Amino acid sequence: MEEYIDRVLISKEELGKRVVELGAEITRDYEGKKILVLGILKGAVPFMADLIREIKLPLAYDFMALSSYGVSTQSSGVVRILKDLERSVEDVHILIAEDIVDTGLTLKYLKENLRARNPLSVKVVTLLDKAARRKADVTPDYNGFSIPDEFVVGYGLDFNEEYRNLPYIGVLKQEAYEIN
Ligand code: PRP
Ligand code: MN
Ligand code: MG
Repeated sequence: MEEYIDRVLISKEELGKRVVELGAEITRDYEGKKILVLGILKGAVPFMADLIREIKLPLAYDFMALSSYGVSTQSSGVVRILKDLERSVEDVHILIAEDIVDTGLTLKYLKENLRARNPLSVKVVTLLDKAARRKADVTPDYNGFSIPDEFVVGYGLDFNEEYRNLPYIGVLKQEAYEIN
């Protein structure tokens, strides 16, 4: 599996340390509030699973599935809801959990869609922010790492659905996506 990894960008240890810090910050900010952590399938799953255990408050979590760029490396700008929430969010503070904000098109659409459901608030925590590629005007409220414009995989991030189970964030070799 690792033959197509050029190098480790963020190690397992660095990820773990940063997730603890984010959890502590969120714990302080949301003290006394009713939180719904909303994971965006499928990339956010490993990050969210680790993060929620570092938020030392009662919370609920749920998932939505959106589609932005499928199996290609390019974002189409078309966002579809593949799986929606099952309950009203009018009495909760929504904290969207993402693995990466890239063009921001997914998040921009999602934030507008959620705001229309009248939650108490909508904020975003992302593990990675690739600001160089931003097309939509969105800024995450909590960000684990700002990263350069390279094709990264691991810890939830995929290429053609693979590499999500790597315990670190790695840079994919160009030859990996050229042969596909
Ligand atoms: C990726 C990533 C974010 C989104 C970011 O998901 O997990 O959800 O794209 O891209 P954007 O900022 O350019 O909109 P993807 O659509 O690949 O689905 P996945 O999480 O199932 O891999
Ligand atoms: Mn995703
Ligand atoms: Mg993907």
